[in-house]
Amino acid sequence: MDKKEYVSVLNKSFASENPENLLRHFLKGLGDKIALSSSLGPEDQVLTHMVTRIDPNARIFTLDTGRLFPETYSLIDRTNLHYGIKIQVFFPDFHALEEMVSTEGIHLFYESIEKRKRYCQVRKLEPLSRAFAGLEAWVCGLRREQSVTRQDMQLIEWDEANGLIKINPLIDWTEEQVWDYIRQHHVPYNSLHEKGFPSIGCQPCIRAVEPGNDPRSGRWWWESPEHRECGLHKR
Ligand code: ADX
Repeated sequence: MDKKEYVSVLNKSFASENPENLLRHFLKGLGDKIALSSSLGPEDQVLTHMVTRIDPNARIFTLDTGRLFPETYSLIDRTNLHYGIKIQVFFPDFHALEEMVSTEGIHLFYESIEKRKRYCQVRKLEPLSRAFAGLEAWVCGLRREQSVTRQDMQLIEWDEANGLIKINPLIDWTEEQVWDYIRQHHVPYNSLHEKGFPSIGCQPCIRAVEPGNDPRSGRWWWESPEHRECGLHKR
């Protein structure tokens, strides 16, 4: 059976399973060959809560682009303290970063989609490739409802670009379910969510959105919706 067939079998067998049981199955089976990739967003905080309850030593990593909000840095600390864990932090390669900033400027991403993608490549994708060392699977907080670019994503996918199984336990959850879980389980979350930032990434690439508007419309707001992905979730 090739990887795609294998993943389609997995999808069928876990279709009606809840996220905790799905995570338990893969965490027990894969040990340190599986990791949660956390942006510290609300979905990832829910997953951190679930994962640490199953295995307090489970691997959780975050990509620090160097341009995060102070509130996000504070949430890394608060989450570590709350769960007694140490989220592994990956930084951009400083040679590549110095080269990019010296030649293209600090705010290159506003100039074109190509330059914005280069920024994401250096600050997120290259560090992600190092975070993947030794992994067979990664867990993400993607939800279909989040964006036009995410509507056909699956619970379990074969991530061809990275040669890994990709697990999206909250793929079918609504935003309301995420926040109900956070409140019910007293999960720590980013204080910026109370100030009009439903989706948070790099500080210069986000602006606040009006209540009721598309939660991701504040991300890379100067680009059209079909381009608003950093490349982490290539399919
Ligand atoms: S993204 O375009 O920045 O990737 P979003 O913020 O909606 O979109 O994140 C989707 C998922 O990608 C997160 O739930 C998380 O699994 C992963 N992710 C995004 N940013 C990071 C990051 N900085 N570090 C680790 N994982 C991340």
